[in-house]
Amino acid sequence: MASDNQRKSISLAELERRYRDRNDESERLFEQARTVLPGGDTRSVTYTQPYPTFIDEASGCRMTTVDGDEVIDFLNNYTQAIHGHAPEDVVEVMTDRIRKGNGLGSPTKDVIDLAERLVDRFPSIEQVRFGNSGTEATMNAIRAAIAYTERDRVLKVAGGYHGTHDTVEIGISGEGREHKGVPSTVESRVDTVAYNDPEALKSTFEAHGDEYACFILEPILGASGMIPATDEYLEAARDLTEAHDSLLIFDEVMSSRLSTGGAQQKRGVIPDLTTLGKYIGGGLPIGAFGGRTDVMNVFHPDEGDVGHSGTFNGNPATMAGGAVALDALDAAAIDELDAHGETVRERVQAAGDAVDVPVTVTGEGSLFHVHFTEGPVTDMASAGAGLEDSSEDDDHSLAFYLAMRERDIFMAPRGMGNISTPMSGEEIDAFTQAAEAALRDVEQIV
Ligand SMILES: Cc1ncc(COP(=O)(O)O)c(C=O)c1O
Repeated sequence: MASDNQRKSISLAELERRYRDRNDESERLFEQARTVLPGGDTRSVTYTQPYPTFIDEASGCRMTTVDGDEVIDFLNNYTQAIHGHAPEDVVEVMTDRIRKGNGLGSPTKDVIDLAERLVDRFPSIEQVRFGNSGTEATMNAIRAAIAYTERDRVLKVAGGYHGTHDTVEIGISGEGREHKGVPSTVESRVDTVAYNDPEALKSTFEAHGDEYACFILEPILGASGMIPATDEYLEAARDLTEAHDSLLIFDEVMSSRLSTGGAQQKRGVIPDLTTLGKYIGGGLPIGAFGGRTDVMNVFHPDEGDVGHSGTFNGNPATMAGGAVALDALDAAAIDELDAHGETVRERVQAAGDAVDVPVTVTGEGSLFHVHFTEGPVTDMASAGAGLEDSSEDDDHSLAFYLAMRERDIFMAPRGMGNISTPMSGEEIDAFTQAAEAALRDVEQIV
């Protein structure tokens, strides 16, 4: 634990050295991993300097690292673990399902149980299908829109993250293709538009609206830093897509936790299609996409002409666990999550205001992000760094992450955090006290 009484200038390198001192088994595993996995892992986002922490086990909102530290988990696998780790009732139903047979090459009742819950909860969802990731969900939703409208072009938000398939790998942290490996031709059929700028949206639709199969957006811009959409922007998105016979897709992979019926229910703006993922599988891999029956009918094996197969689609254990997880996420549970989220945002912003570093805390409900930039943060440009830029903001973010880790708080290296249902005031106090001290460390960074 860092001494918070002895304040003196420290460097990022010093914070990194202290991290290395405390996490030598993680470093050993990282070196071993690098011999067989490029970059030592199999997921770009979990790579961080100087090396990621390897986790041994987790229960509720706490995880034990391979170096023996118990950390409070405010990352929750990037919002997937809404009920924390290994929630007993979910684990029980999943293991029971696995014992009875899983992966049967024919449907089980579990798929209907989860589908009915999603149809009941989300106003836009009349029919739904399942895949194994949010990436598959947005890929198939966009595919449905292209088939239904018979148009090729897609509009997305600058800074919007919808997974890793080609169409959405455009304009995530900057202009054009996010990564080499995405065919350059994709750029010619995917446009981006600024978030929270209804005028920009209007002129984009005036120019090309009749060519867009769909406009896909997150009601809270997640990877760019948990930036809520304004009501005005969401309403403009609804009106403009309708006026141009283009489909509106809400990517609610992260925002679905904002009410029992997602951000769409909370904001009263109903899209044509919705994508879901993360916690709705109870902790096993999942993606779901659903919406209007006439659009979803493109997947009907006899009446439509869009294929949608996948060995693990509707995986019984995932479906069964997902149903239990969803049932536990009722309005009262969401109210409690949101109250904790509000407390975190208020207290960390107050702590940020008290140090000599620009801090803006964004978020909504149980989602939050600590930005090291002057506010207001309303879109990718005002969020500053973007995902992969190495700027001073990023040094502050990394320093904050390391300073929080020293205090046994686990969150995203980029500054994102979220609340899980096992958390109580004790964990919220632990987080905010750690954040106050960590921000003072960040202030000392030279
Ligand atoms: C809004 C949003 N859409 C899609 C995805 C992709 O989901 P997955 O990682 O399950 O492919 C994510 C992942 O973080 C996301 O936040």
